[in-house]
Amino acid sequence: MKILGISGSPRPESRSGSIKVVQRILENTGFEYELISLQGKTIGGCTGCMACADDNICKLNDDMKSMRDKIVEADAYVLSGVNYFNTLNAVMHSFLERWYQFRHRESDILWGKLAVTVSLGGANPSPPSDRLNAFCLYNAIKVIDNVQGIGAFGCCYCGYGEECKVGGHYLVNGPDCPINEDTIPDVTKDEKVMVAAEQAGKKLGDQLRSDDYSREKTTQEMMEILQAHFEA
Ligand SMILES: Cc1cc2nc3c(=O)[nH]c(=O)nc-3n(C[C@H](O)[C@H](O)[C@H](O)COP(=O)(O)O)c2cc1C
Repeated sequence: MKILGISGSPRPESRSGSIKVVQRILENTGFEYELISLQGKTIGGCTGCMACADDNICKLNDDMKSMRDKIVEADAYVLSGVNYFNTLNAVMHSFLERWYQFRHRESDILWGKLAVTVSLGGANPSPPSDRLNAFCLYNAIKVIDNVQGIGAFGCCYCGYGEECKVGGHYLVNGPDCPINEDTIPDVTKDEKVMVAAEQAGKKLGDQLRSDDYSREKTTQEMMEILQAHFEA
């Protein structure tokens, strides 16, 4: 069994909180894993060209190409996104739009696999998780846990964050809050989040090891939920 972690934050690892949560989950599964960051990757959104309909292989030529085999071969996923303008950030959205290639003609490439989703926001971490969970449902992937935390707004680093009245730091903390080590949110110091990440990793490992888990059974469960989703 191999687990693939995808960190959707476009920020470098040194500044990204979400990648550290993904890492903590992965290292607690007890399985072999690979963590890929989408930082610096060029991944366009799905163009709806339908060239993947015959063989479930996307024909667009960008950084998604080298990741396709890893996605196919993985038994489970840890997927993270970050809140940009109250929704899932663009590169992670594009990355998951491109999973459209796996959905054609009852291809079961992803069906019945398991996932943990992760999201961070400067104020509100939940919108990206809603989107990640929806993408998983559309691919009949079962999300078994979700971890959310507060991350650092970009304006903690831009140089104007203490005075800029439209910046997240100012909007959340008001005019008299200096930006320093104590006030910049750091998810790795948030015990609740890091413990939740540890537990999510153990849960994913336990479920993959469990005799009760099979992709066939999970596929059936997810297909019923998907069907009900479209009937609603
Ligand atoms: C373009 C942009 C838009 C953002 N919009 C929001 C927002 O609408 N709500 C929010 O809570 N945080 C917002 N943020 C803050 C990010 O969600 C926050 O920086 C988060 O910690 C990023 O995760 P990372 O540390 O893994 O990169 C925004 C940040 C950027 C750069």
